[in-house]
Amino acid sequence: MTRKNLIWADKKDLKKNLKDKIYIVTGANSGVGLETTRQLIKQGGHVIMACRRPEAAKEVATGFKGLKGTYDIMRMDLADLQSVRDFVAKFEKKYDRLDGLVCNAGLVVMGNEIQRTKDGLETTIGVSYFGHFLLTELLLDMLKKSAPSRMLIVSSVVHAGNPKNRPKVHLEDLNYKKRQWKNFAAYGEAKVATILYAMELAKRLEGTGITTASVHPGWARSNFGSGGGAFMKLIMAVARPFTSGMSDSNWESAQTSLHVMLADDVPEHSGEYYSQSSVLYRDKECKNGGWPMRSPNPNARDMKTAKKLVKMSRKIVGLDKK
Ligand SMILES: NC(=O)c1ccc[n+]([C@@H]2O[C@H](COP(=O)([O-])OP(=O)(O)OC[C@H]3O[C@@H](n4cnc5c(N)ncnc54)[C@H](OP(=O)(O)O)[C@@H]3O)[C@@H](O)[C@H]2O)c1
Repeated sequence: MTRKNLIWADKKDLKKNLKDKIYIVTGANSGVGLETTRQLIKQGGHVIMACRRPEAAKEVATGFKGLKGTYDIMRMDLADLQSVRDFVAKFEKKYDRLDGLVCNAGLVVMGNEIQRTKDGLETTIGVSYFGHFLLTELLLDMLKKSAPSRMLIVSSVVHAGNPKNRPKVHLEDLNYKKRQWKNFAAYGEAKVATILYAMELAKRLEGTGITTASVHPGWARSNFGSGGGAFMKLIMAVARPFTSGMSDSNWESAQTSLHVMLADDVPEHSGEYYSQSSVLYRDKECKNGGWPMRSPNPNARDMKTAKKLVKMSRKIVGLDKK
């Protein structure tokens, strides 16, 4: 059943001919990323499915048979910065343009134990933010050369918190070296970081023809959260019938990313936050979402913090000297 206040991408955007357009979608083998990928291929685009498990991508790609466009599966583990660098090097050898970069992959580490990426970053932030940060920075020349081009990064309603508790990036300890770790606190911070990054990037790229955006896809009935193992999967399966009236199919959840990649007016709003409607917003005025929408969290709108975050991130991922 479709929620009545779901925001849909314009039908004419979903019919645009994407022949000769090249896209990268991270996390393309599952959930929102898979439906975004399928639609871009359906419209004739060529999608590079950047996945940590190529075998999973291969399996789902059997469903693309008969679609107008094409795809290529390339391995990339966002929890390993060398893997991101290797991906970009291979991509640049094979391709000479990039029309759209969809930084979609993400996870929340389930349980009470902090996990770290290969590079020692807190995993939820490392995958959702730092991995995509490095990927995007390394692809900027390609996006510039292919302009007009677009980049989006998937955030979440969780970034908004509530009026009494707004998540923020902790510049003094981004990777939980000193602070007590909680999984959804780290997730909220990661998703604030994605919004700040899209905003900073838009400012930095003014006049280049690259449009950036951050996205809340809605409450997707995807594999999200299944990293908690069999017990978590069971809880999710039991809860599904009770939440299905508030949540969305993966196709419905792909609408916001597709709008950002395809709609004509998006370049007029570079750097902004696009949100599907969501009952999970604690701020009443946000529940209907908006393309674009003002985040209710002032910590996600602060350009000074965004600039500091980017400066620090460049050092953390090894683009600048510490
Ligand atoms: N589901 C929701 O309600 C919801 C709400 C707000 C925001 N979001 C965001 O939406 C995005 C898509 O999530 P989803 O709901 O579609 O969940 P999903 O079905 O679990 O898909 C997540 C994708 O991210 C990939 N991924 C995880 N860790 C990775 C890594 N280290 N390197 C490369 N890829 C990695 C996963 O790969 P594997 O298959 O190999 O695990 C999978 O392809 C995420 O950024 C999530 O935070 C989701």
